[in-house]
Amino acid sequence: MSQKCRVYSKQDFVGLRNAGRVAAHILDYITQFVQKGVTTLELDRLCYEEILRHNATSATLGYNDYPRSTCISLNHVVCHGIPSERKLINGDILNIDITIILDGWYADTSRMYVVGKAPQKAIELIDVTYNAMMLGIGLVKPGAYIGDIGHAIETYVKSKKFSVVRDYCGHGIGRVFHDEPAVLHFGKPKTGRLLEPGNVFTIEPMINAGDYRTKLLSDGWTAITIDRSLSAQFEHTVGVTEDGCEIFTISPNGWNKPFYEIAK
Ligand code: MF3
Ligand code: CO
Ligand code: CO
Repeated sequence: MSQKCRVYSKQDFVGLRNAGRVAAHILDYITQFVQKGVTTLELDRLCYEEILRHNATSATLGYNDYPRSTCISLNHVVCHGIPSERKLINGDILNIDITIILDGWYADTSRMYVVGKAPQKAIELIDVTYNAMMLGIGLVKPGAYIGDIGHAIETYVKSKKFSVVRDYCGHGIGRVFHDEPAVLHFGKPKTGRLLEPGNVFTIEPMINAGDYRTKLLSDGWTAITIDRSLSAQFEHTVGVTEDGCEIFTISPNGWNKPFYEIAK
C-alpha cells in the first residue's frame, strides 16, 4: 500500500475553499431553527433547501441508500442519526453533519447545537470535543504524521475523563467523499501517513461521556453509545499547506462552537 495520499493543487484548493464556505454557511443558517418543538426532519429539509439555493447538492442523500441531506445525532447518538419526526426538547444536545458538493468539490463539516439549557456535564463534553478537534487541526503541517493527530486528541480527551470513539474516523476528501487516509482520533505519534502539502482530509472526533464503544441500530445507520451516555462531535475539512493547514469549513459568522446556557 502506498504511503502517499492524493495531492490537490493550489487551484483545487480554490474549489475546496468555495465548497467549504457553503457547507459552513449551511450550519450557520440552520442555527436559528434549532429550537424546542422543531423536528430533526424539518431541520433536514431546511438544510436541503439552503444547499440547493447555493447551487450545491448533498453528498449524503442517496449515498449507500442513506435517505437524507444531513445526519442529525441527538444526545446518546454518536453519528449518522437519521432525521426523523422527533421534536427537539429543552436540554437536548445534537450534532448536525452535512457534506455538500459544489462544482464537483466535497466539503464535510459538523457542529454541536444545544436546545435551551443543557446540563453542565453536556456542555463540558461539547467543549472538550471542540478543543480536541482544534488540537488535532493545530498539528496538521507538512512532515507531521496522521498518528500525531490521533495521539494528541486521545491524550487530551483522556485527561478530561471522557472517551474517544474508535469505530468511526476522519477521512480523505476532495473530488470524492471518503478517501485515504483514515484519520483515527487515537493512536501513536509518528505512525500512519506522512503529511504533505495538498493533502485534504477531515478531522471529526466523536467523544463519549462514558464508554467509548458504540452499537449500530437496526436501521443500519444510527450509531449510539453502548451505555447510552452522551456523545459529541465536531468536524472540519482541512487542507495541508506549505507551512500548516487551511480549514475550509470555518463558520462565515464565527459560530464554530455553540453558545449555550447552563441548566441550574
Ligand atoms: N458526513 C459523514 C462523515 O463525516 C458521513 C455521513 S454518510 C451518511 O463522514 F450516509 F451517513 F450520510
Ligand atoms: Co466526514
Ligand atoms: Co461529516
